[in-house]
Amino acid sequence: MTQLTFKRHRRLRQTAVLRKMVQETHLHKEDFIYPIFVQDGENIKNEVSSMPGVFQFSIDRLGEEMDEVVALGIPAVILFGLPAEKDETGSQAYHDHGIVQEATRFIKKNYPNVLVIADTCLCEFTSHGHCGVVSADEKILNDPSLDLLAKTAVSQAEAGADIIAPSNMMDGFVAAIREGLDAAGFEDVPIMSYAVKYASAYYGPFRDAADGAPQFGDRKTYQMDPANRMEAMREATSDIEEGADFLIVKPALAYLDIVRDMRNNYDVPVVAYNVSGEYAMVKAAALNGWIDEKQVVLETLLGMKRAGADLIITYHAKDAIRFMEGK
Ligand code: PBG
Ligand code: ZN
Repeated sequence: MTQLTFKRHRRLRQTAVLRKMVQETHLHKEDFIYPIFVQDGENIKNEVSSMPGVFQFSIDRLGEEMDEVVALGIPAVILFGLPAEKDETGSQAYHDHGIVQEATRFIKKNYPNVLVIADTCLCEFTSHGHCGVVSADEKILNDPSLDLLAKTAVSQAEAGADIIAPSNMMDGFVAAIREGLDAAGFEDVPIMSYAVKYASAYYGPFRDAADGAPQFGDRKTYQMDPANRMEAMREATSDIEEGADFLIVKPALAYLDIVRDMRNNYDVPVVAYNVSGEYAMVKAAALNGWIDEKQVVLETLLGMKRAGADLIITYHAKDAIRFMEGK
């Protein structure tokens, strides 16, 4: 008899019970952060056309969304604001009664156990749609933007935001925001930095949802080149030095190698942002009956965990929990 020597990997795949015993990665509802778009005005619940199932809410109807968030056990939401007015310097971003500040107060008052994460950027509030201050010759100015970003973060913390998540990609934004928060007495408010944020076409649907598309040019002088991996290390290293408590990698799907790099090289929680375009692709195919939405969503999110994400910001959060719980 010939002595075949090979490994029998299938031994551990024989039954569902056994497969579950050796499962290496798991999804938990505690992993999810759910994005919510809040809009100035009354009685608004507008579905975003490129993001089926995602809505813009005015504060008087935000409770409908928050009731679901709480019922499903989602621990945290991240807020994006659509202000009534925009101007050159995005002043509604750091107004005491800006839309994000008011939505934060509403949630902390009525749903105190849900963590509120405030996205800290200017693009939804500036008339030009860029994430920083713009000069007369249409340059995005770094240092003048820092003061406004720090001001925005402080006003969000004053409104009760539990975590500040700056997404603007100016250099030094973590240092400026940390300094601003500390000076205002918010030394215990963590910074979840969009440390590694690529200039991506996957943000398309979000720019409809948040009305934040740049009115001229693009974001390539501040967001990263999708071709670059070492640059991600430089961005993360400086953010950690400046005091970031979490690192976000964004987008997620085309950048899972970067998620793994972050997990292997830094010792803070790593967050994958499963962005709007990734959501839209899955939803579009599912609505056409081309893929099994439940299986694809759970496989996608599990893949992000396996790549090294500790947390996932995802528009699928509510659906994913329903799928996980067989609802
Ligand atoms: C704003 C911001 C963007 C996203 C989060 N914060 C858009 C952008 O940078 O153009 C993208 C989120 C998504 O696509 O889901 N700075
Ligand atoms: Zn921005």
